[in-house]
Amino acid sequence: MSTIRFSLVIPLIILIIGIQYSINQQSKSTLFDNIIIKSYSFENTEEDNMVIARSFKETSDRIHQFVNDEDLQGTEPESILKLRQSTKEKIHRSMEIISQALDEFEYSNISISFNGGKDCLVMLHLYMAVLNDRKLVSETHDDGSLKKMSSVYIYYEDTFEEIEEFNKETSKTYNLDLQVYSYCKLKVGFEKYLDDHRNIQAIIVGNRKTDPYSENLQAFQPTDNDWPSFVRVHPILDWTYQEIWFFLINLNVHYCKLYDYGYTSIGGISSTIPNQYLKKTDFELKNKDINRENLNWMIQLYQKNSQISPEYRFYTDEELEAHEHYPAFYLQNDDYERFSRQTKQKAQ
Ligand SMILES: *[C@@H]1O[C@H](CO)[C@@H](O)[C@H](O)[C@H]1NC(C)=O
Repeated sequence: MSTIRFSLVIPLIILIIGIQYSINQQSKSTLFDNIIIKSYSFENTEEDNMVIARSFKETSDRIHQFVNDEDLQGTEPESILKLRQSTKEKIHRSMEIISQALDEFEYSNISISFNGGKDCLVMLHLYMAVLNDRKLVSETHDDGSLKKMSSVYIYYEDTFEEIEEFNKETSKTYNLDLQVYSYCKLKVGFEKYLDDHRNIQAIIVGNRKTDPYSENLQAFQPTDNDWPSFVRVHPILDWTYQEIWFFLINLNVHYCKLYDYGYTSIGGISSTIPNQYLKKTDFELKNKDINRENLNWMIQLYQKNSQISPEYRFYTDEELEAHEHYPAFYLQNDDYERFSRQTKQKAQ
């Protein structure tokens, strides 16, 4: 009797598991069906490789120079010295975390999440510096071609043309193998990306604690149960908005021009607007507690940079003048950063 029951139960269980599995597979494939995948990965020429190697080295040199530069004391306003000091400390800590990730995982098993925004741009530069220091930049495949940096950009809503352009350009300049997964939520996008790239074990992500759902994140964070399994590495959690801009302007980093049009946090087109706190006609009124000395110093540096690298500017002075808003780096209060978003970010 019990053997009969037993012999029935086993096939029944197998049948149930089988049905569940096929339902799972089906819902997974319908889930993935709407994703549009693009690749911004360019074939490099010999010359490209040389340019890339040089830009990695230059980035690394500039960051080390920034961190080690001690002779500016006395020539800068007190508040700038403070900002410089705290930015240095953040750089140091971030590079430590990235290094730790490279101790734990191989370069070929790490990817970075890159959406063209200011935060992940800082992160990308720090990553490049660490890669250069660890001599990983010149790693080649068996056929002699230069290894590209694995990276992924996942987005849900229609995105800005300017961001797309910037991402294409960045992929080329910095040798990214940027895979773009569009019109899907982050979780689904990561799931599909990891399904397509089985070698990836860790993804470096540019969240800061002030971002939605981010205040409790840790530098190394295995994903939650209902997420695809990988380690999220968060090297820039503690950076403030001001430090991000101090870094980008000081190191003369080429960023997406939308920031110069008064966007301070960029998401989808329908949910992103220029920040009202940067509106020129209201600026004085809305930023009464602004540190003028600080701002003037940054403006001077910004103007100097645009003379050094006019190619980074897509607009003329007149165009910038005609804009209703000041550039993003004018904002000093971290609490106002998200006023560039109309709705709460949903793509978690
Ligand atoms: C790491 O990446 C390499 C190259 O793609 C691959 O051969 C290897 O299996 C990966 N390691 C793991 C643990 O996934």
